[in-house]
Amino acid sequence: MKISQVLQRLEPSATMAMAARAKELKAAGHRVLDFSLGEPDFATPEHICQAAIQAMKDGHTHYTQASGIPQLKQAIVRHYRQRHGLDYDPQQVVVSNGAKHALHNVLTALLDPGDEVIIPAPYWVSYSELVKLASGVPRIVPTQEAQGFKLTPEELRRAIGPCARVLLLCSPSNPTGTMYTREELGQLAEVVLEHDLVVVADEIYEHLVYPGWEFVSFPTVHPELVERTVLINGVSKTYAMTGWRIGWSISPPEVARAIAALQSQETSNPCSISQYAALAALEGPQECVQEMLRQFTQRRNLVLEHIRRWPGVSCPEMAGAFYAFFNIRQYLGRRYEGQLIENSQQWCLALLERHHVATVMGSAFGAEGYVRLSYAAGLEELQEGLERIEAFLQSAE
Ligand SMILES: Cc1ncc(COP(=O)(O)O)c(C=O)c1O
Repeated sequence: MKISQVLQRLEPSATMAMAARAKELKAAGHRVLDFSLGEPDFATPEHICQAAIQAMKDGHTHYTQASGIPQLKQAIVRHYRQRHGLDYDPQQVVVSNGAKHALHNVLTALLDPGDEVIIPAPYWVSYSELVKLASGVPRIVPTQEAQGFKLTPEELRRAIGPCARVLLLCSPSNPTGTMYTREELGQLAEVVLEHDLVVVADEIYEHLVYPGWEFVSFPTVHPELVERTVLINGVSKTYAMTGWRIGWSISPPEVARAIAALQSQETSNPCSISQYAALAALEGPQECVQEMLRQFTQRRNLVLEHIRRWPGVSCPEMAGAFYAFFNIRQYLGRRYEGQLIENSQQWCLALLERHHVATVMGSAFGAEGYVRLSYAAGLEELQEGLERIEAFLQSAE
C-alpha cells in the first residue's frame, strides 16, 4: 500500500532503535547496561499508585472532558501561580497523552504549510519530526559546546527568515542537560518580541534541577511573553510516570480552544485514571521528588567526575535533567581492534556490540561528534558502565 508523503519523510526514533538492539542483546543473555532511554528508573511513588486505584474504585473509568478534568487543570494553574507567579485560567490548559502529544497538538494548532520552527541543536529527537508532521519546516540552528549548547541572541537573529513563526526552547535540555539563566532567556526574549515569534517552551525537566542552579520559566522574564508563549510540561519525568501518559500545554485562550477541539476529535480525553494519578502527584507530598533529585544528583556527580577524567573528552556541566552529552571528536577517525570508526553512530554501535553499553549517537540529536548518556540508572550500574566506556576509549589506536 502507498504510504503518505508526510509519513514517508518521518524518521523513526533513534533512541528507541538503540534500546531495541540493547534488548536483543539482553535477550541473548548478555549483561547490557542501558543508558539510552530518557526515563527515570524509579517506581512511581506509592501514594500516586494508590490514587489511581481509588479513582477506579470511585468509578472514574469513563470519558472525561476531552481537554482534561477541571481539578487537574486547576492544580496545574495553582502550580504555576505558586512556583512562578504566573496567572493562567484553567481553560488555557489542555491535558494530553504525555508531553509529546501536547507538543504535537500545539504544533498542529500553530503551523501552516511552510511555517518555520527554529530548533536549536542539539535537540530532542522528536522536535523536528513533530514539526514535519504538522506541515511545518524545522529550521535547525547549531549551537556551540563552549556556550553550553545554548542559543545566543545573535544565532537566533541570524536564523529568522520571512517564514519564521515559532522558536522551540527546551530548558533544562534533553539531550545536553544544560539550562538557560534568567539573563540568557531575557536576551532571547528581546529578539522574540522584536520579530513577533511564538515560543513553545518545553519545561518538562523543571523539577530535575541540581543544587546551585535556578530554573526560570520562560514567560517570567518579560510580561509581554505570556501571550506569545505556549508552555509544555507533564508528570512523566518529575514523578517517574512515563507510562501513565499525562502531559499538558498552557496556551493563550484561542490556541487552547483550537487544541481542545483537535484533541476532542483525535483522541478524546487522556486516560481518566492517569489524570487522577497526576492530580495526586501535583497535590500530594513532594518529598518523593526531592528524594529522586537527591539520587539523580549523586549520579550526575559520578558521571561528570568520570567523563572529566577521560583524556580528550569534554562535556558541559549538567544543570538539570538526567543526560550527559559528551564530545568524542578526538576518538573518531581512529581504529578500535582494527575497525575504523568515523562517526558517532558507528562509535555507539561498537560500544554496544563490544562492551554491551547502550548510549545514543549525537547525530540523532543534530550534533555529530557527541554521545548522549542517560544516567537514569543505579550508581553501581553507572560505575560499571562508565568503566566499560573508558576501556572502549582506551582501545582507540
Ligand atoms: C524534552 C522532552 N520533552 C517531552 C518529552 C515527552 O514526555 P512524555 O513522556 O510526557 O510524552 C520528553 C521525553 O523524553 C523530553 O525529553
